[in-house]
Amino acid sequence: MTELVFATNNRNKLKEAEGILPDNFLLLNLDDIGCTAELPETADTLEENALMKARYVSEHFACNCFSDDTGLLVDALDGRPGVFSARYSGPEADSDKNIDKLLGEMEGKTMRKARFTTVIALILDGEEYLFEGSVEGTITEKRMGAKGFGYDPVFVPEGYSESFAQMSAEEKNRISHRGRALGKMQEFLMERSLRR
Ligand code: IMP
Repeated sequence: MTELVFATNNRNKLKEAEGILPDNFLLLNLDDIGCTAELPETADTLEENALMKARYVSEHFACNCFSDDTGLLVDALDGRPGVFSARYSGPEADSDKNIDKLLGEMEGKTMRKARFTTVIALILDGEEYLFEGSVEGTITEKRMGAKGFGYDPVFVPEGYSESFAQMSAEEKNRISHRGRALGKMQEFLMERSLRR
């Protein structure tokens, strides 16, 4: 059994990753390895941020691990908040304040296309791998639903009428940016297991 740490403090992300690893991998979280540090994510691309978090954990705890970084890219805002999605509304940012700021900036805009992109950085036996997943959609005019986390209440994926915050976890996972990136990592891990 190969242990693989998901380098995140976000319980929602952990839940989304559960059940996705092949049987010969065991998913651990930061509590399991005694990591209480705030992971660094000060770069200006999703790739570098994901790598930064995974490298921190891999170097300090000598383990196989992966980390993700996600951005919401809104066309009418020239791709903002993008890599700054977590801190969009300033140093005291939380999801509620971020959504308020986003809805404020989008007020009166008819072009509401956006996408979520997740980049996963995996460090396995000292080698680094990247996996990316995206989902297209639109920004709503007001909050819809109370499930999920982050910007979920104001994002409706293409082809659906419900926001991510109105969907079950399974349904979101099936079509979401993170679900797709995790799926690619899962495929890679399965193929790699078969080759051994
Ligand atoms: P990070 O990847 O944890 O840095 O997330 C960046 C920002 O995007 C944070 O504000 C998160 O709450 C938000 N975010 C990350 N993943 C999702 C998601 O699946 N749905 C909605 N918001 C998300």
